[in-house]
Amino acid sequence: MTDQVIIFDTTLRDGEQALAASLTVKEKLQIALALQRLGVDVMELGFPISSPGDFKSVQTIASQLTTSIPCALARALTKDIDAAGEALRVAERFRIHTFISTSTIHVENKLRRGFDDVLEMAVKAVTHAKKYTPDVEFSCEDAGRTPIDNLCRMVEAAIKAGATTVNIPDTVGYTVPSEFGGIIQTLFNRVPNIDQAVISVHCHDDLGLSVANSIAAVQHGARQIECTINGIGERAGNCSLEEIAMILNTRKDHLGLHTNINPVEIHRTSQLVSQLCNMPIQPNKAIVGGNAFSHSSGIHQDGVLKSKNTYEIITPESIGLTQNNLNLTSRSGRHVIKHRMEQLGYGEADYNLDELYADFLKLADKKGQVFDYDLEALMFFNNIHEEPEHYSLDYLSVQSGSGVLATATVKLKTGDSGHTVEAATGNGPIDAVYQCLNRIAGYEVTIDDYKISSKGEGKDALGKVDIVARYQGRKFHGIGLATDIVESSALAMVHVFNHIYRAQAVEEKKQARLEINDQV
Ligand code: KIV
Ligand code: ZN
Repeated sequence: MTDQVIIFDTTLRDGEQALAASLTVKEKLQIALALQRLGVDVMELGFPISSPGDFKSVQTIASQLTTSIPCALARALTKDIDAAGEALRVAERFRIHTFISTSTIHVENKLRRGFDDVLEMAVKAVTHAKKYTPDVEFSCEDAGRTPIDNLCRMVEAAIKAGATTVNIPDTVGYTVPSEFGGIIQTLFNRVPNIDQAVISVHCHDDLGLSVANSIAAVQHGARQIECTINGIGERAGNCSLEEIAMILNTRKDHLGLHTNINPVEIHRTSQLVSQLCNMPIQPNKAIVGGNAFSHSSGIHQDGVLKSKNTYEIITPESIGLTQNNLNLTSRSGRHVIKHRMEQLGYGEADYNLDELYADFLKLADKKGQVFDYDLEALMFFNNIHEEPEHYSLDYLSVQSGSGVLATATVKLKTGDSGHTVEAATGNGPIDAVYQCLNRIAGYEVTIDDYKISSKGEGKDALGKVDIVARYQGRKFHGIGLATDIVESSALAMVHVFNHIYRAQAVEEKKQARLEINDQV
């Protein structure tokens, strides 16, 4: 048996069907090309019978793929299979994926038929799909809850009818790994023609076991895993592609299996899917979560600095991520601060570590996470946490509504030089406020990330806005808290301005120091 696991990606089918708003064809194509670059073997592009739009997007994307095999879904019905075949015909080679439910719960309550009827429909569907392509996949929907004798019969019949891949979905994410692995093992023991098809699995995550179940399946002979980027999909989602790829890669020693996935493309693809699908990634998500490579505890940070393998089993670089992975918080030790300063280009002679560390702890207690620009400001200015801010919001008035051009008037206090007032229009009230603020401060700031959350409950809740803004290639974080979210947004931007102002002052001090050094 081969040791390659085929990666069948269904982000654009199972993943997309669970989104609040559908993707445009252009967005789907962008994702498809990223998935192809990532190295997925088979890509399920949609369900062509479901709508003319889906048909068109399957057709468009299928014509663009060069290395991944395009695939489309069809119920075990002639009209569905015809739609899939017609949409995919533009590609040189393609797969038709047809399915029908096999569990008693589905057969009796959803299909309202007998199992033998369903078996006959499956055979007819596979036979019909074979008229379009030699590459036909058949899925036993709800296989995880299908009586094993029926499942064996169905798999045997589908293979006999010509299915080259037979998929065993745990459609409702019900099984546990030992049980699901056992189902695959039984199929290998009991289905006489099983060696004539690839056995695939498609696990949902209702009990958080989709990845574990898929791994158990490949340990028992399955050689295709169906999965999605970031695990998006119906209800709790599907098995996550990046987790599968990195498990097989990191634990090759134990599992002895590999995929065609190029791990360095993982981070980029995950971000693209998250942004286009408007599905944020939970920070503690394995592999692609914002915290997946961040070490927070002082003990861990110390360990990682001494030797990365103490707490890191995968490097951030291996998934295409290059970033500082030590969160500077009040739990960080002196050693970590010294290391970070070295990375920022400062030697021990440039600052007093005892003083810097004491200042760092005070600031960390106050604001939680400390960023590089804070650290530099601490080095160049004493007591920055006690200094008044350079910019502060004095007055804000906004007019907006449906059919009304959003207009804002903002008064900003700037250092000792007094107040400046600006008025501007924008695409919405926040945009209008940001136009005013940018004009007053003269910074060309772009927003990379904008998050809004509520602090507290009920009518007393405060709106908290977190932004990540980019100025001259550097990222700055700003937070604003107020009862009104437009005001919170303004305060977050003013917070960013104060960071930028301080970073510029640091830059001036650095330059002055360099000039002095040159003269000596
Ligand atoms: O979850 C499922 O069973 C499916 C099938 C169509 C493969 O998505
Ligand atoms: Zn599914």
